[in-house]
Amino acid sequence: MSAAAIPAVPKAELHVHLEGTARPELIRRLAVRNGLALPDGLLAADDTFHWTDFPHFLRTYDLAASVIRTAQDYRDVVYEYLAACAAEGVRYVELISSPDHARAAGLDEAEHRAGIFQGIDDARAQAGIEGRILVSVVRNLGVEAAERVAAEAAAMPHEYVVGFNMAGDEAGFPATAFTRAFAIARDAGLGCTCHAGEHAGPESVRAALALPGLVRLSHGVRAVEDPELVRELADRQIVLEVCPTSNVALGVYPSYDAHPLPALLAAGVPVTLNSDDPPYFGSTIGEEYGVARDRFGLDDAALVGLTDTALRAAFAPDALRDRLRKGLHSTPPGL
Ligand code: ADE
Ligand code: ZN
Repeated sequence: MSAAAIPAVPKAELHVHLEGTARPELIRRLAVRNGLALPDGLLAADDTFHWTDFPHFLRTYDLAASVIRTAQDYRDVVYEYLAACAAEGVRYVELISSPDHARAAGLDEAEHRAGIFQGIDDARAQAGIEGRILVSVVRNLGVEAAERVAAEAAAMPHEYVVGFNMAGDEAGFPATAFTRAFAIARDAGLGCTCHAGEHAGPESVRAALALPGLVRLSHGVRAVEDPELVRELADRQIVLEVCPTSNVALGVYPSYDAHPLPALLAAGVPVTLNSDDPPYFGSTIGEEYGVARDRFGLDDAALVGLTDTALRAAFAPDALRDRLRKGLHSTPPGL
């Protein structure tokens, strides 16, 4: 479905779900290591993740996540993803981590984080890439769970934990109910973003925009259905974490030709490129840059511009952001 990865263009990614980075081969390896059978229905006959629509995708995602059981597993998932990104010319990744998924698999938050942080450290040491974490809540687990996760994140500050997100079933669980969870995260100094405008339209985007601290939108693409809302996004310079292949694979748009990324860019909305859950959609972050070049007509300078937008919108501290932005016009060793 996608395109060549163009490793020489420096890249950054703000939106990828941590459990959603693990390829079937890695999930198999972890299942064997943990003495688990692969969950029924997880994989299709061709060894890809099996799902048919968005609700089914979310269930399959949960099944795969259920095999990720230990701090070492989390380390391996993070390390392997970041190392693969580095090979595609990616310099910085914000991974969306889900304490609820780790907890469901039997890990407390200290163990969960210890594994993730080790993966980030190892990837920096061995591949020269920087990773950071956004703590995510799952809206379909309810308001109480979201506030508990936000409070736990606020009580456990760490230099690698830079932001807060909300994923899950957007259409069934409007953002408005989660105001307090976002206030807790904002007050703890976490950068705030929220899934909206993916499986619901402009009203859902407006509800997310009203959340405390919100400066980015995960997806946000369906804002394009309301020109006044597009103007608001451009005026407020709300950054969209756009995931083109995810949107086409999940049926938000029937094709790349129908995707609104070019229209949003033309309207002055800050746009970044992201892979969401790459093996589920048959893509990688490098290939999303290829899609932007081959399907949306962006040249290399425009692609580097999207990376710069991502780095400016990153929730990393200024010193790291400035260093990464300065490095945008150099090629890392080995590429
Ligand atoms: N969780 C994992 N991927 C997601 C997506 N694309 N939308 C909402 N929740 C998700
Ligand atoms: Zn997502």
